[in-house]
Amino acid sequence: MSTHTMTDSQPAQFAFSPENKKRVKELIAKYPNGKQASAVMPLLDLAQRQNNGWLPRAAMDHVAGVLGMPPIRVYEVATFYTMYNLAPIGEHHVQVCTNLPCWLRDSDAVVGACKKKLGIGFGETTDDGKFTLSEVECLGACVNAPMMMINDDFYEDLNADTTEAILDELSKGGTPKPGPQNSRKGCEPEGGPTTLKAKKGSK
Ligand code: FES
Repeated sequence: MSTHTMTDSQPAQFAFSPENKKRVKELIAKYPNGKQASAVMPLLDLAQRQNNGWLPRAAMDHVAGVLGMPPIRVYEVATFYTMYNLAPIGEHHVQVCTNLPCWLRDSDAVVGACKKKLGIGFGETTDDGKFTLSEVECLGACVNAPMMMINDDFYEDLNADTTEAILDELSKGGTPKPGPQNSRKGCEPEGGPTTLKAKKGSK
């Protein structure tokens, strides 16, 4: 089942932890008086982080209560954005971008490597609960396509081998280095600058 379909198995209750209650106040204070509903997205994100990476309906209802919003308005937000998971996810949420720029740079190889290595398809979680695989639209890192996001980290300039290496390291409990997985530095051209190079003899 997709992580964007609300699961039938729902906890009865949710409330922010004492520590997160303080954070809720700080987040709401960022918005003008009377516009507290604008804090709905960061509050849903906070609730999701508190609840092992997914948003139960009780959490959405709690956020609605905190912000004085009708629950349906909160459901509309939570069901629209893929950043909110409406069903439990694995320890590592592998989100592979297959949108056009990533696809042109062979995101098919990244998807293939994930499916082969993890033995699951999109919207599925491995039996040991370690990995969930999701397909997402552009994550804003097209300049380093193809890419995937795992929890809060971006892994970029991927191919099948580097994708498998990242998943291997995570399986062993390691922490793969995020960012470009080839020789590029950030989003500079591979192999170094191609323009605005100093001319011989210039100062
Ligand atoms: S298309 Fe993949 S990050 Fe933009």
